[in-house]
Amino acid sequence: MTYRVVQWTTGNVGKRSVRAVALNPELELVGCYAWSDDKIGRDVGDLCGIEPLGVKATNDVDALIALKPDCVVYNPMFADVDEMVRILSAGINIVSTSEFITGHFLGEGRDRIAEACEQGGSTVFGSGINPGFIQLFAIVSAGLSEQVRKVSVTEAIDTTIYNSPATEKPMGFGYPIDTPDLKVSTEKGSGIFRDGVLLVADALGVELDEVRCDVDYAQTTEDLHLPGDWTIAKGCVAGVDVAWKGIAGGKEVVEIRGRWRKGQTLQPDWKLDMGYTVEVVGTPTIKTTLSFLPPPDFVGETLDDYIMLGLSIVAMPAITAIPAVVAAPPGIATYNDLPLLLPRGVVHV
Ligand SMILES: NC(=O)c1ccc[n+]([C@@H]2O[C@H](COP(=O)([O-])OP(=O)(O)OC[C@H]3O[C@@H](n4cnc5c(N)ncnc54)[C@H](OP(=O)(O)O)[C@@H]3O)[C@@H](O)[C@H]2O)c1
Repeated sequence: MTYRVVQWTTGNVGKRSVRAVALNPELELVGCYAWSDDKIGRDVGDLCGIEPLGVKATNDVDALIALKPDCVVYNPMFADVDEMVRILSAGINIVSTSEFITGHFLGEGRDRIAEACEQGGSTVFGSGINPGFIQLFAIVSAGLSEQVRKVSVTEAIDTTIYNSPATEKPMGFGYPIDTPDLKVSTEKGSGIFRDGVLLVADALGVELDEVRCDVDYAQTTEDLHLPGDWTIAKGCVAGVDVAWKGIAGGKEVVEIRGRWRKGQTLQPDWKLDMGYTVEVVGTPTIKTTLSFLPPPDFVGETLDDYIMLGLSIVAMPAITAIPAVVAAPPGIATYNDLPLLLPRGVVHV
């Protein structure tokens, strides 16, 4: 079966999704939504730096719905509940990387989305690398321990070259380090990690008493000039260490921690074990580090070529889920509901 796909926006992650869809013989790109006016009418391949694909980007949502795709690959900067409801109630499935894991991050929007799924007989699934695939990895790893005390995931990344100020500023980056209530902003900006905690707790069958967020910051001692014409001034936040913790019986049972730094002038100068570390503390303790590297024959010409590799691991968990999401019963589906997701159509020999 070939799955007919509509791509929703072509930003950092969206560009990589389009490339993955174009490369996969089991997927067919039939349409693309553009949020930016200057992208409307342009070939989607051109927008994504690959060969023309013969599909033009549009902001005509009705026309995209009328294409009756099997699935929308939803990668906008922010999740738009009205937009998602429109797509799902028309009977079109969604795989998303945008602020969706269990749906709880969207508050009351979650109920509207669940109703739209019922109405349209459609399914919505959200992933990414973190939150997303790495929680699945942690859940699978916990299956090796006869007694589990805590499951933790730490993402440690130097994000200097990531160009998405609009999603990073809400995490606390760029604010004077002594800004009052900065933690409140970071808690809101990183709130999707709470859904990741809920997902792991649900997989473990643990009822949490509380989900808590702890944050620590580091500042830059010099002005930092970053992609996206973004400057973080001296004395402002260039390092964020945020930990979302699921508490049961007074103990931390699940933790999702992000440690991100920018530039070489960080104070304190946090040392990061770059990549993703999954630790299941138990009998026995299981520890795995997941890192990603360029393929052996990779010839990167620009910084963007390297950035795009990192974005692949954000885009692919949603793309890989398409067949299972299309086959799933209507509603909100998480990794705890779907069968083993098979990476079909990706072997190129
Ligand atoms: N879970 C994970 O592992 C993970 C990791 C990274 C990112 N993400 C999420 O994935 C999503 C996409 O990230 P990204 O880095 O690709 O984002 P991005 O490039 O900054 O933005 C994506 C696209 O959103 C559209 N857009 C711009 N401003 C907007 C606004 N104010 N409201 C709605 N849409 C707007 C634009 O669409 P056009 O291209 O059509 O102009 C833009 O290209 C975000 O929600 C991000 O948080 C998840």
